[in-house]
Amino acid sequence: MTGPVVVPPVVVPPVVVPPVVVPLGTVPPGEQVLPGHVVVSLLSHGRRMDTYDAHDLDRGCRSVVKVLREDRRNEPRVVAATRREGEVLATLAHPHLVRCYEVHDEPPALVLEVLGGATLAALVEDEPLGLADTAGLGLQLVSVLGYLHRHDWLHLDVKPANVVVDAGRVTLIDLSLVGRPGEGRPGAGTRGYLAPEQARGSGLGPATDVWGLAVTLVEALTSELPHGDEATWDSRRRLPLLHRRAPRPPRLPAALVPDDVRDLLLTCLRTDPAARPGLDDVRRVLEPHAHA
Ligand SMILES: Nc1ncnc2c1ncn2[C@@H]1O[C@H](COP(=O)(O)OP(=O)(O)O)[C@@H](O)[C@H]1O
Ligand SMILES: [Mg+2]
Repeated sequence: MTGPVVVPPVVVPPVVVPPVVVPLGTVPPGEQVLPGHVVVSLLSHGRRMDTYDAHDLDRGCRSVVKVLREDRRNEPRVVAATRREGEVLATLAHPHLVRCYEVHDEPPALVLEVLGGATLAALVEDEPLGLADTAGLGLQLVSVLGYLHRHDWLHLDVKPANVVVDAGRVTLIDLSLVGRPGEGRPGAGTRGYLAPEQARGSGLGPATDVWGLAVTLVEALTSELPHGDEATWDSRRRLPLLHRRAPRPPRLPAALVPDDVRDLLLTCLRTDPAARPGLDDVRRVLEPHAHA
């Protein structure tokens, strides 16, 4: 009698599975991020919010779901800010403001229309825009910022990453820092873009968004931030530096930027918010250049 055949184990080399980079706490494709919203892909893993491209089962279309990050849901200030973003977007409607379909409380989240095109940040990364295009997008931003201001809201994070451009049409997104005029949390804003009064956290007003608009337009025209690394009020080091001299004015070559636009942008970037022009002045200067 022969014993059972002993089959030697076959040594299979381990299959190398490339690591899938799914940030911790985010929802993988195919799962519901909110009831009725199935993740297609993660668009952005921000400091506070995760933003997804998702199938919207009720509407039978794609939508964008912006949800408070799991690891920040126990911070009352951040939860309140997300609720405020939902409240403002759900109560206001404007052709150049992203549309909000739903606001959720648990988890704090928004469901937004899907915008085509690209962010202005992506557009200007390689190549600046011409004057007419920049003026055209500036006018659209003036329109939507004026609307927010008439409703007593400030955007407080106007920058190319929060502006979506699709075939010349501009949509302002990301109201995560939206607030009322007056006091704010010192340093709230994006480094390189926030106005001096945002660094201080006092004296916020429509002029604060005029500053953000001007920074955005300078970046559109030059692909550079107006103050480069010299933004003395940058949000991390701001307080000890607030009293230093203002940074050098941005470089705006005469060949690219006519005198009136240059003067406008420089006055929009005055350290004192009271010295900056209003949105109507910005519109008056930009208008003739948009149709050139
Ligand atoms: N409605 C939308 N349609 C298309 N893309 C969007 C939309 N909303 C946001 N995004 C993309 O997701 C990114 C993050 O969204 P944003 O609202 O700016 O969130 P955060 O508060 O994290 O900055 C944007 O820069 C943009 O690329
Ligand atoms: Mg943003």
